[in-house]
Amino acid sequence: MKKSLSLLLGASLLFIMTGCDKKEETQESKMTYKLSTAEVYEQMCAKCHGKNAEGNTEKKGPALNDQTIQELRLGITDIKMGGSGGHSSGTEHEVMEHNMKKIIEKGMDYDTDAMAQYIHDNFNKK
Ligand code: HEC
Repeated sequence: MKKSLSLLLGASLLFIMTGCDKKEETQESKMTYKLSTAEVYEQMCAKCHGKNAEGNTEKKGPALNDQTIQELRLGITDIKMGGSGGHSSGTEHEVMEHNMKKIIEKGMDYDTDAMAQYIHDNFNKK
């Protein structure tokens, strides 16, 4: 009885471990993006947020060149994860959420941290 229990435990442990391995693999393959962050920004974000992240009133895209790296990171992660997650912008986020889906569909996925860094390093005016 004891033996079979530890066997079962061992087996499920192995299962959990291999399960983890698989997850890591898919996450890694997800990390290879077709386009560079700069290309994605130019092609996907600039039309609403401006070529230099100065914002575009016509498209209602807010300026991103006055945000800190933390704000950008939070905003971008939030958008990418598709959750308004109790953030103040509430329903407005749907614009970006919807767009994010399109972005991913088009194979224009990007790394959120890299995007925040890119916008901050290139466009921040402070
Ligand atoms: C179709 C127009 C459009 C496109 C394309 C677009 N955005 Fe936005 N974005 C908006 C609008 C409108 C808002 C404000 C409302 C909202 O949060 O949904 C916003 C909000 C944001 C915010 C939060 C700003 C804040 O002050 O909280 C970030 C960060 C952001 N966008 C980054 C990006 C990035 C990065 C891309 C490209 C991958 C992108 N956006 C593409 C329209 C767009």
